Amino acid sequence: MGSVRLQAVSKHFGIAEVIKDLDLEIGDGEFCVFVGPSGCGKSTLLRMIAGLEDITSGRLEIAGRDMTGVGPAERGTAMVFQSYALYPHMTVAQNINFGLRMTGHPADEIARRTARAAGMLQLDALLDRKPSQLSGGQRQRVAIGRAIVRDPAVFLFDEPLSNLDASLRVQMRAEISGLHREIGTTMIYVTHDQVEAMTMADKIVVLNRGRVEQAGSPLALYHRPANRFVAGFIGSPSMNFLPGNALPADGSTRVELACGGRLDCAPAIAMAEGPITIGIRPEHARIGRAESGTLRGTLNHAEFLGSESVLYLSLADGSTFCLKADGLARAAPGDTVEFHVPAKACHLFSPEGVALLHGDLTQ
Ligand SMILES: Nc1ncnc2c1ncn2[C@@H]1O[C@H](COP(=O)(O)OP(=O)(O)OP(=O)(O)O)[C@@H](O)[C@H]1O
Ligand SMILES: [Mg+2]
Repeated sequence: MGSVRLQAVSKHFGIAEVIKDLDLEIGDGEFCVFVGPSGCGKSTLLRMIAGLEDITSGRLEIAGRDMTGVGPAERGTAMVFQSYALYPHMTVAQNINFGLRMTGHPADEIARRTARAAGMLQLDALLDRKPSQLSGGQRQRVAIGRAIVRDPAVFLFDEPLSNLDASLRVQMRAEISGLHREIGTTMIYVTHDQVEAMTMADKIVVLNRGRVEQAGSPLALYHRPANRFVAGFIGSPSMNFLPGNALPADGSTRVELACGGRLDCAPAIAMAEGPITIGIRPEHARIGRAESGTLRGTLNHAEFLGSESVLYLSLADGSTFCLKADGLARAAPGDTVEFHVPAKACHLFSPEGVALLHGDLTQ
């Protein structure tokens, strides 16, 4: 059992409150990913769960047990850091089983657990090497092996792949997901990488200034962000936000945009008229005119990635707009680009940033 429950948890460093009255439940066996801007408290929260930082107030339970006064070694957690910090003079096997040797486990059990972890991580052939004789990905696997042999109830990963190059990250991402499927242990994983978060998580927790903005499945956060912060944080490039004014209309919500033009968003919602922000994902805008919902901008900059073209536009009111088109789309800086937005692709946010309407292209 490796469920984790935080109730009204706060953390102060001196007068700074870096985790604020935070409630969160992570189910047994869940793969939970923490994301959020730098400094929002992700590592601090992970370290509090591990017992490496005190909790100023509130309650933490692991597997239903109150962790107040329980030291890091007795919590059943194992942490894997960004800098894998292997002992350079020890072999791979000795690095993996160092903790077990220190806690006086019998030799046959140490050998059995080391072999099992090495097998899972394809390190069998490397057990006698020193860390300096390994690639970055192999070293990170040794660090994960060191956590696996402890047979924890909860794995805690703090940006474990951020020192690896792009192709190794993709490989290790798949390996960690595979490991989770195989052993089914609760994993809490911090990353700045959108693709890691979207592909690995059962649940993503979006943190901002020490608070949970939203927790939910990756696709729930993508399709139904609770507020403007989450809408802008999940998805890459970020959602576009255009200011406008909402007017009542038949069967839809009509928004007169500050950049000129008008979008009819479906469905109609009962809400006050007035200032509003419309949110449109770059991948949901389409180049070219349509009967309604056509906007135009001037191209500032374009990225032609082969598989797709990403266009960065300036609109008449000075707003910027990013549009993701297919890889054949071409435009040069200074060109006028016309585009349109399907009514069902628009999200609406109140002036306070609360989501009022979610686009739903699946309908
Ligand atoms: N030991 C400490 N003493 C004082 N302040 C700290 C300490 N550790 C962290 N902080 C502050 O707490 C806040 C949260 O830090 P934390 O390391 O948890 O952020 P993070 O979300 O992991 O950021 P990053 O994405 O950059 O790793 C930051 O403002 C940081 O400066
Ligand atoms: Mg951190």
